[in-house]
Amino acid sequence: MGDKHKKNREYKKGPHLILIGFMGSGKTSIGRGLSYKLQRAFCDTDKMIEAKEGMSVSDIFRTKGESFFRMTETEVLRSIRDDSSPKIYSLGGGTPVQLQNQPLIKMCGTVVYLRITPEAVYERLKGDTTRPLLQCEDPLGRIKSLMAQRLPAYERCADIIVDTGATEREDVMQDVINRLRESGWNIP
Ligand code: S3P
Repeated sequence: MGDKHKKNREYKKGPHLILIGFMGSGKTSIGRGLSYKLQRAFCDTDKMIEAKEGMSVSDIFRTKGESFFRMTETEVLRSIRDDSSPKIYSLGGGTPVQLQNQPLIKMCGTVVYLRITPEAVYERLKGDTTRPLLQCEDPLGRIKSLMAQRLPAYERCADIIVDTGATEREDVMQDVINRLRESGWNIP
């Protein structure tokens, strides 16, 4: 097998901690908490995209369309892959779905999937207006169908799966830290 193919298959891991999961699974809040505990910078890819485009995610969806947003997500992932200084990154809920993003995500670092039920997402995001995909007649139905479509992608990308939703934020953070230690991370 040529070196190029070998490299792609092995997904040499970068130094980052990558948080993935459905909208409302707590990636941002857990990421901020872990940033303090692990003394690492935290970045949220939605915020990176908003800064790059100079507008909110909702406005990007409205004026430039979802496919433009998805292209920008892939560009941002490439920049994370090329960032050699260890950080914590939280990815948008749809980022792992695009096939070309999956090897990129794995190359960025250790991937933690924050797993949550559709009902818990619904309770957390009731009344939220910042997620364009959930501005519809039946948000719970939309959450259920999107989650069913996305589960295999989340599982494919994950190195570690941690349940969230019914658990306090501190306990979720502790679970993540314990699982990172088990997988060889040196956390004091
Ligand atoms: C999306 C999730 C959002 C944001 C955009 C699309 C998705 O991020 O990227 O609204 O497709 O699930 P969060 O998961 O941080 O809410």
